[in-house]
Amino acid sequence: MAFKPAEWPRKLRSQDWYEGASRDTIYHRGWMKNQGYPHDMFDGRPIIGILNTWSDLTPCNGHLRELAEKVKTGILEAGGFPVEVPAFSASENTFRPTAMMFRNLAAMATEEAIRGQPMDGCVLLVGCDKTTPSLMMAAASCDLPSIVVTGGPMLNGYFRGERVGSGTHLWKFSEAVKAGEMSQEDFLEAEASMSRSTGTCNTMGTASTMASMAEALGMSLSGNAAIPAVDSRRRVMAQMSGRRIVQMVKDDLKPSDVMTKQAFENAIRTNAAIGGSTNAVVHLLAMAGRVGLDLTLDDWDRCGRDVPTIVNLMPSGKYLMEEFFYAGGLPVVLKRLGDAELLHKDALTVSGGPIWDEVKDVQNHNEDVILPADKALTQSGGIVVVRGNLAPNGAVLKPSAATPALMQHKGRAVVFEDIDDYKARINDDALDIDETCIMVLKNCGPKGYPGMAEVGNMGLPPKVLRKGITDMIRISDARMSGTAYGTVVLHTSPEAAAGGPLAVVRSGDMIELDVANRRLHLDIPDAELAERLAAWTPMHEVATSGYLMLHQTHVEGADTGADLDFLKGCRGAPVGKDSH
Ligand code: FES
Repeated sequence: MAFKPAEWPRKLRSQDWYEGASRDTIYHRGWMKNQGYPHDMFDGRPIIGILNTWSDLTPCNGHLRELAEKVKTGILEAGGFPVEVPAFSASENTFRPTAMMFRNLAAMATEEAIRGQPMDGCVLLVGCDKTTPSLMMAAASCDLPSIVVTGGPMLNGYFRGERVGSGTHLWKFSEAVKAGEMSQEDFLEAEASMSRSTGTCNTMGTASTMASMAEALGMSLSGNAAIPAVDSRRRVMAQMSGRRIVQMVKDDLKPSDVMTKQAFENAIRTNAAIGGSTNAVVHLLAMAGRVGLDLTLDDWDRCGRDVPTIVNLMPSGKYLMEEFFYAGGLPVVLKRLGDAELLHKDALTVSGGPIWDEVKDVQNHNEDVILPADKALTQSGGIVVVRGNLAPNGAVLKPSAATPALMQHKGRAVVFEDIDDYKARINDDALDIDETCIMVLKNCGPKGYPGMAEVGNMGLPPKVLRKGITDMIRISDARMSGTAYGTVVLHTSPEAAAGGPLAVVRSGDMIELDVANRRLHLDIPDAELAERLAAWTPMHEVATSGYLMLHQTHVEGADTGADLDFLKGCRGAPVGKDSH
């Protein structure tokens, strides 16, 4: 159904702070005037909050203050009033124990920053992995008109003539060092080549995936995801988004109009086509929970099942985001999905029109980067959801990053009780393990790590690497970096720290992975599994104070998005009481 814009002019929520001559209004307006705003700025024009996740310690978003200036220009040009507001910024490469533990905190803080202040619409200025979903979750819960502007990926990295992808080559080079194939000096020299410019990871890692998810969901302007951070067109995109949000406020075009079930299905299929990160699973489930949509792991498996991976980018393929942009970027992928009848063409975007109108006439400029369907990296690119007695609520695997020969395999479990146990034993050549074994890592889920760290793609033991083996089956309740690869079963639910069956796997047990039949089976009798579960006690204590306590007490399982239970749903943005 076509979107029907609201009547304009009408009274906006910001006028509850700024309209009239009461003591309270003068109090609010007077303070703002100390920044040099003329009186006529408070005439009822839309006030747009630019929620900025800039931080010197989130280097991927280090350039967002410059970008915010272009957003402001666009807002002013369209007759709006821009206000830049800091948002909690959790860097994937810096925050401990893991940025994921703070995604929900950032979402909660941003939600209240929006609701408690005079904003009529929001520009979400994001980039690094968790900054994008956290602000989108906040915007969904407030449901004020919102548009996503990402910071864009870094330029390609090169080391001695070879393309170097963020993250992907860090894993490759560190395995090569462990296998004795790369010197420590060369490893150090490669460091600088990985990050040549401002911007986010240049692979189809989680940051690029989430930028693509925002675009596929219709929450950013068409073409936003792939423009490199330093390309002048990134600044144009910021300015155009600033112009657009003002009209969105006038039209009252809200996240709940855009983030529909159809939009989520488009995003899931897009994730399969781009070979996107498994992290998108938890983030999209959490976002859907904020708009009150019933999106499940089964939707992931159902929608992605027959979608070929056509974007030839690391970690699944060979190119990087810069080449994806030159080839035409995400609009080409959306057009291809539409041509294959795998896109809900009517899904509304922040443009105010259907997504198909944005992409139907675009061209693919490089068929080695965005591949024809018959040359796809895999014909079934969607995230696979496996279930069984080892994962009753499901676990996920990314086929485009896995080894086909391992997709059906039965092997002996080598169990690590937690990440410290793994680190203490993995490099020991006395460890009883070979390439036919299945590595199992416990207690790395949302409650257990805590925060569900990206440790699921645990490195292989050196004695296996030295044989030239580069992949083994790994199973955990952890996540995996979007830049990583391998036959890695992730997000096993319920997690070990919540007493899921993963908690009672023992070294020597046989495990069967059968991707075609979506099966993950611990080969022990049911009675023995029940006995082990009855005898299980948690390994780690729950914190008794601080945010950690809140997180461990309220975080839900990965199978439903790992949001805090009390943050789910849309609470809107009523203006609330004045305190003066
Ligand atoms: Fe921030 Fe990759 S670590 S974008």
